[in-house]
Amino acid sequence: MVKQMLKEKVLASFNKQIVPLDELTISVNDRAYLFGDGVYEVLRVYKSRPFLLVEHMNRLARSLSAIGISGVGSLTADILSIISLNHIDEGMVYVQISRGTAPRVHSFHNLSLQPNILMYAKPFYEHPAAMDAKTGINAITHEDIRWGRCDIKSIGLLANCLAQSKAHQIGAQEAILIRENNVTEGSSSNVFIVKNKIIKTPPLSQHILPGTRRQFLINALSEHGYQVEEDNITKDELLLADEVFITSSIKEAIAVIKVDQHPINNQNLGPVAKHARALILQASLNS
Ligand SMILES: Cc1ncc(COP(=O)(O)O)c(C=O)c1O
Repeated sequence: MVKQMLKEKVLASFNKQIVPLDELTISVNDRAYLFGDGVYEVLRVYKSRPFLLVEHMNRLARSLSAIGISGVGSLTADILSIISLNHIDEGMVYVQISRGTAPRVHSFHNLSLQPNILMYAKPFYEHPAAMDAKTGINAITHEDIRWGRCDIKSIGLLANCLAQSKAHQIGAQEAILIRENNVTEGSSSNVFIVKNKIIKTPPLSQHILPGTRRQFLINALSEHGYQVEEDNITKDELLLADEVFITSSIKEAIAVIKVDQHPINNQNLGPVAKHARALILQASLNS
């Protein structure tokens, strides 16, 4: 009962006004609603602290600058405050910035807009990826039909939603996106493979999001003596890999044990995926 009440009491901040999330109303003329004209971040909170906060804030600044939204100062104090107001020990923070509110016209040229800044923090009563981390997940491959600037963390995620829903529809948990026969990333994750002890992940480009966990693991795995290469992964390489794993702030690192109908590592969790996950968890304790 208390848990249920707490669940209903998520507090959000909208342009610094604190409101219960389910009571928050936003104008239909917010360009996020009309055009998907905005960017976002999702941060994982461990022991009341946002993990890799600087990396998330740097990526947010890059996303804002890429689409020409200015006038958003540092959000660090507000993020710490929303975590504290919601009494988060383990959980997440969602931050979304839209270009602002104005009657619906495509061009924002000559509009003087104030960005709308939304954030809320939610507790995890149980870790959303705990079961997947124990068992590994199934993935499908799916054509990457997204736009040409997937390096911007845009809130326009329709193609990602379609791909992930397709995966769920057929009993898989993630869709690994393929563009011109190469893996780009997951619908909401980055992708790594291991073949003959070499770890590979697709190189940064405008076709993938520069994931915070992707970069963290490239560094951490290299420091632990693994050979890590940022290189193209063909669909065949994916299907024939010794290990496949996906990474994100919320999922950390999760082994993929089947892609389409191909078992990976005899459908067992692989050692590198396990080590990758352990490295994230270890770092989260020391952050
Ligand atoms: C499309 C996509 N790629 C990669 C990621 C992983 O990014 P991060 O590790 O910063 O959470 C996400 C996260 O949600 C995502 O949506």
